[in-house]
Amino acid sequence: MTAANTLIDLFAGQTVIPVLRIADPANAVPLARALARGGLRVIEITLRTPDALEALRRAALEVEEAIVGAGTILSARQFEQASAAGAKFIVSPGVTPGLLAAANDSATPLLPGAITPGEIMAAREAGLTFLKFFPAEQAGGAAFLKALVSPIADVRFCPTGGVTAKNANDYLNLKNVACIGGSWVAPDDLIEAGDWNAIEALAREASKLRPI
Ligand code: 3PG
Repeated sequence: MTAANTLIDLFAGQTVIPVLRIADPANAVPLARALARGGLRVIEITLRTPDALEALRRAALEVEEAIVGAGTILSARQFEQASAAGAKFIVSPGVTPGLLAAANDSATPLLPGAITPGEIMAAREAGLTFLKFFPAEQAGGAAFLKALVSPIADVRFCPTGGVTAKNANDYLNLKNVACIGGSWVAPDDLIEAGDWNAIEALAREASKLRPI
């Protein structure tokens, strides 16, 4: 099974992947539960806070209904640490030889970032055909991705970075977009306030987003 197929199976049609920054690991479990209640079972916990691995471990272990991945993975070492902590998939902002080697040695699928045609072709040559497009808005947005549909027809993307409920459909309507990701579903201030009801409501709205 290719990484792309494993990822598509794991995501199971979920069109929005919450990208999470969790400062206090105590918030990981209630946050993952709130998102799952809102219909977003697949979540990405980024390694952008000192205790992110602990947050990931708790969510992966304690929230059965969640499918927890690790984001912002920059090195093979972080790939291994995140897998050991229970990550079901690994997201990275770009592709490096070290990450490709780690992915080859692991059953955990990698969703790596690529923007330029050359980066996308290099990932494709390495057997990776489901890629993150990051930072989506800053890199050229939906118009840029649309221009890739014809020349690189067999690669699908998960755009993230500046994607929100407002521009979600610009991306979801593209043939080469499988899902989108973003932090708008669980903003830092709502996580810090422990406002799980508000996050559940945002998740519920996001979970209804579909191509139109
Ligand atoms: C990511 O890592 O995917 C992005 O940082 C999420 O971007 P956003 O905060 O603009 O949604």
